[in-house]
Amino acid sequence: MNVVLIGFMASGKTSIGRRLARRLGYHLLDCDHFIEEQLGCTIAELFERRGEPYFRELETRLARRLPALENTVIATGGGMPIAPGNLDLLRRAGPVVFIKADPEDILKRLERDTRRPKVQGGNVRETALGLLEARLPIYSQADFTVASAGKGLNRTAGEIIRLVAGFQRAAPESAPTEPPVETRG
Ligand code: S3P
Repeated sequence: MNVVLIGFMASGKTSIGRRLARRLGYHLLDCDHFIEEQLGCTIAELFERRGEPYFRELETRLARRLPALENTVIATGGGMPIAPGNLDLLRRAGPVVFIKADPEDILKRLERDTRRPKVQGGNVRETALGLLEARLPIYSQADFTVASAGKGLNRTAGEIIRLVAGFQRAAPESAPTEPPVETRG
């Protein structure tokens, strides 16, 4: 089984994913880091050189390969479940868990951030809250939602472990055809 973490930027998916992977004895695939390593540049550089649509295409290509993974915690980028069809691909990889962070905590982190191109320049609060509102209906379609505010990584990871234990999708979809993705342990 895999566990897929979705949620807004700066909501702690990578840190929670790392802790979760350690506790489960799973690999961790951080989708943003994977794309950065494959391309040899940062997401911000990629946005600048090739534009957002190119990045989204890479995300979708990666999403298509995720169902072939085994025993992996998949930390997605905040926009990965948004493109039509991507949430279904994520569901095929495993139970999808929405990490629901407190918007004020998110904003505090984003206001200090220089790496996330979606919120650079202009009014970070306005841009981020607008995006969050637009995306919430999609994040909310996750199999499980875990509120992370005021909880440490260990407690959040423990909740996820209890939620996904014994998870089985009601109607499994067809077997994946894409090659497996290499992950780091
Ligand atoms: C994005 C989120 C980022 C990264 C890119 C775009 C988004 O990932 O994929 O900057 O559109 O929400 P994090 O959620 O890890 O910040």
